[in-house]
Amino acid sequence: MKLKKLVLTGAAGSLGSQLRAPLAAMCDELISTDLVDDLGEMNPGEHYVKADLAQYDEIFPMLEGADMVVHFGAIPDERPFETLLGPNFIGSYNIWEAGYQQGVRRVVYASSIHAVGMHKKADFIGTDVAHRPDTFYGLSKCFTEDLGSMYWDKRQMESVHLRILSASGPVKNARAVGSWLSYDDLIRLVTRAVDTPSVGFAVVYGVSNNDRAPVDNTLASFLGYHPQDNAEDFAQEIFAQTDSVDVTDPGEMCHGGPFAVVELGKSGVALMPNKSGRES
Ligand SMILES: NC(=O)c1ccc[n+]([C@@H]2O[C@H](COP(=O)([O-])OP(=O)(O)OC[C@H]3O[C@@H](n4cnc5c(N)ncnc54)[C@H](O)[C@@H]3O)[C@@H](O)[C@H]2O)c1
Repeated sequence: MKLKKLVLTGAAGSLGSQLRAPLAAMCDELISTDLVDDLGEMNPGEHYVKADLAQYDEIFPMLEGADMVVHFGAIPDERPFETLLGPNFIGSYNIWEAGYQQGVRRVVYASSIHAVGMHKKADFIGTDVAHRPDTFYGLSKCFTEDLGSMYWDKRQMESVHLRILSASGPVKNARAVGSWLSYDDLIRLVTRAVDTPSVGFAVVYGVSNNDRAPVDNTLASFLGYHPQDNAEDFAQEIFAQTDSVDVTDPGEMCHGGPFAVVELGKSGVALMPNKSGRES
C-alpha cells in the first residue's frame, strides 16, 4: 500500500538523511523537517519544512493530512535536563498530540538502548524488560515510549519504538561488534515499522544480525524485521586493535556502555572509544 503523506523529523541528521530516499519511495508526499535552513536536493515527492520540535504551532500544521510520522529529531546524547526538555520531551509530546489532533495513524520513533541502559548485558533482555534509563537522555526515550503506550491505550494511535543500539557505517569499536545497526538494516527496520498493517504499541531493538547481539527481538517478530548484516565480519580486525577491558567496569557490563557510568548531564558520546561509531 502506498501512503499518501509521511513526515520525517530529524531529516538533516545522520540517520534521518539515510531514510529520506527510502521513505520518499513509500508515499506520494514526504515532508522532511529539521532545524537547518536548507536540506539540499529533494527526492521525488519530498518537500522540506524548517520547524522546531519544541514549538507546537510549528509542528501542528505540518502534520495535516499525514498518515504517519517517522520521528528521528532529537538531541542524541546526554545533556542537562533543561537542554533536553524542549527537543526530546516536549518535542515528543508535540508530535503525538499534534499527530492525534491531525488524525495521524502511527508514529515510528527512534528510541534507544539507553531507555534500558542499566540492565546487565549478561541478561539477554527482551523488548518487554522494565525501563532502566542510564541518563536524562535515556529517560527522554522512556518518556516517549510511555507516551506512545498511553496514546495507544487511550486514543488508539499506533506507534513503533525502535530501540536503536549503535547505528553507523562500518563497525568502529569492540562494543559495536554486539550493538551495531548497519544503515541498510536501519532502512529495513523503519520500512517494516511503516508497512506492517497493524502494530498497536510495539517495541523492537534496532540491531543488525550480529552473532554477539545482546538483546532479543523475539516478541517483535510480527514486524517481519530480518536484519541482513553481521558485525562479526569486522570482529577480528576490531579486537586486534582493542586494549584489554576492565570486566568489573559497569560501562563494560551494562547495555548502556559509557552512558551507564557518565555523570548525569555530561556527554556519553564523548566517552566512546571511537565517536564515529556512535552509540546513542
Ligand atoms: N545514531 C545512533 O546510533 C542512535 C542510537 C540510538 C538512538 N538514536 C536516535 O536516533 C535519532 C537520530 O539520531 P542521529 O544519530 O541521526 O542524530 P543527529 O543529531 O545526527 O540527528 C538529529 C537531528 O534532530 C534535529 N533536531 C534536534 N533538535 C531539534 C529541534 N528542537 N527541532 C527540530 N529538529 C531538531 C537535529 O538538527 C538533527 O539534524 C535520535 O532520536 C537519536 O536519539 C540514534
